[in-house]
Amino acid sequence: MIVQRQVWHDYTKYLIADGYGSVQLELYEKEQNFGGTAFIYGLYVCHSYRGNHLGDALLDQAEFCAKHAGHKAVFLEWEEKDSPKWVFEWYLRLGYKEVESDKHGYLLKKELK
Ligand SMILES: CC(C)(COP(=O)(O)OP(=O)(O)OC[C@H]1O[C@@H](n2cnc3c(N)ncnc32)[C@H](O)[C@@H]1OP(=O)(O)O)[C@@H](O)C(=O)NCCC(=O)NCCS
Repeated sequence: MIVQRQVWHDYTKYLIADGYGSVQLELYEKEQNFGGTAFIYGLYVCHSYRGNHLGDALLDQAEFCAKHAGHKAVFLEWEEKDSPKWVFEWYLRLGYKEVESDKHGYLLKKELK
């Protein structure tokens, strides 16, 4: 797995990738509109490679990077238009909790222990 740490003027981005999938993490010093300082997005595994626990490994690596950088929680969004309901249920199994919802989906938060 490749982890590229990109330092931008107001945030740090982690691009975490494997040949078949990737995820991104943004880390901020100050609390953002979503209610925290660490946001995971763009989790995607190639269709032909799904179901091989790569999504699990990518998300785990993103959470590890946030924790290693000193963040206490990570946030992500699940939206019905992009992702099936089982993905939302998987996030709940991993310890993500609902922060807010609208008719399109949920903002979820996981405390990093
Ligand atoms: C969501 C996604 C990243 C998961 O990646 P993946 O490598 O296929 O997932 P994994 O093999 O790591 O499985 C993750 C969990 O989902 C479950 N799962 C996998 N495929 C499933 C399916 N088709 N139906 C129901 N559950 C499924 C697995 O059992 C596992 O749960 P467990 O660890 O509790 O047993 C991938 O399906 C994807 O890229 N989807 C399109 C983009 C997307 O929806 N991204 C999320 C945006 S919020």
